[in-house]
Amino acid sequence: MGFLKRKPLRLQVFQMDYNNGNNDKKEIEMSDNKTNINWYPGHMTKAIRMMQENIKLIDIVIELVDARIPFSSKNPDIDELANQKYRLLLLNKADLADDTATEEWEQYYKKQGYAVLKINAKTGAGMKAIAGTVQETCREKLERDRKRGIINRPLRAMIVGIPNVGKSTFINSFAGKACTKTGNKPGVTKGKQWIRLNKQIEMLDTPGILWPKFEDQEVGRRLAIIGSINDDILNIRELALEFIRYLQHAYPGILAKHYGVNEAEECYKVLEQIAQQRQCKLKGNLPDYDKAASIVLENYRNGKLGQITLERP
Ligand code: G4P
Repeated sequence: MGFLKRKPLRLQVFQMDYNNGNNDKKEIEMSDNKTNINWYPGHMTKAIRMMQENIKLIDIVIELVDARIPFSSKNPDIDELANQKYRLLLLNKADLADDTATEEWEQYYKKQGYAVLKINAKTGAGMKAIAGTVQETCREKLERDRKRGIINRPLRAMIVGIPNVGKSTFINSFAGKACTKTGNKPGVTKGKQWIRLNKQIEMLDTPGILWPKFEDQEVGRRLAIIGSINDDILNIRELALEFIRYLQHAYPGILAKHYGVNEAEECYKVLEQIAQQRQCKLKGNLPDYDKAASIVLENYRNGKLGQITLERP
């Protein structure tokens, strides 16, 4: 409760209100005809502490990001936390992202020293490669262990990522039915369980939740467009206009194809056309822009507009 009473901190680290139930106070600013999103720091400290406590026991940090926004959905704090640890970056929800852009991001993060795989945690696509990649990434450590006579000690992994990126889906899908829970280990917060995935890997069953961190409002808007922030606190119309503007230049033809609109018009005119096409009307036959905006964003989030990535390296 304490932090709810505090004055909003003008930090660039903000507590986000997520679809999965975080109700901390937030502040929305409207300026320059755009929605600016500011957040209060909140559960972040607790989550970071949990990770700091457990990271000592970890060999490899498996970080999930959303393949549609591999930069904006990545929390830079993890770099400090996971310092000295092996890193595997999973571009999740690759089924919703543009394959060409995903390739570019894969190369980009590989150049920065990450092992990178693109996956669909929902269907399991791309996940077979994970076990082998973890082994390969931790090769030096395994070699060191072997020289010290330690054999068959499983590698220990922690899953981290921002809310809604797919951590639970990933753990369920990766661990599957074959996994066994191992007992508590010394040093781990009571109640923490390890899931034995196979002979070589076990992972902490509680993922590390990191909130996104952004100095750039653009990053906040991208997180909002993919649906990581509750719509009821956002100016959905501004968000949809931003998205339409982006599609007009990055994915020409998509709006015309899906909504039968003339996309050469100004973005708000395009939204108006979508409202007409989809019978979104208010009293007096006025276009219901908000309803049309919800339709566009919803169609994007569930993949109906096709595979679209919102940022490039
Ligand atoms: P979290 O633990 O990181 O917070 O995320 P969680 O696993 O709850 O996943 C959030 C949403 O993302 C879920 O959808 C989940 O099904 C979906 N999801 C996870 N991985 C993928 C993926 O690779 N591709 C696609 N398309 N979706 C993915 P939901 O709408 O909350 O639930 P439901 O639709 O599964 O019922």
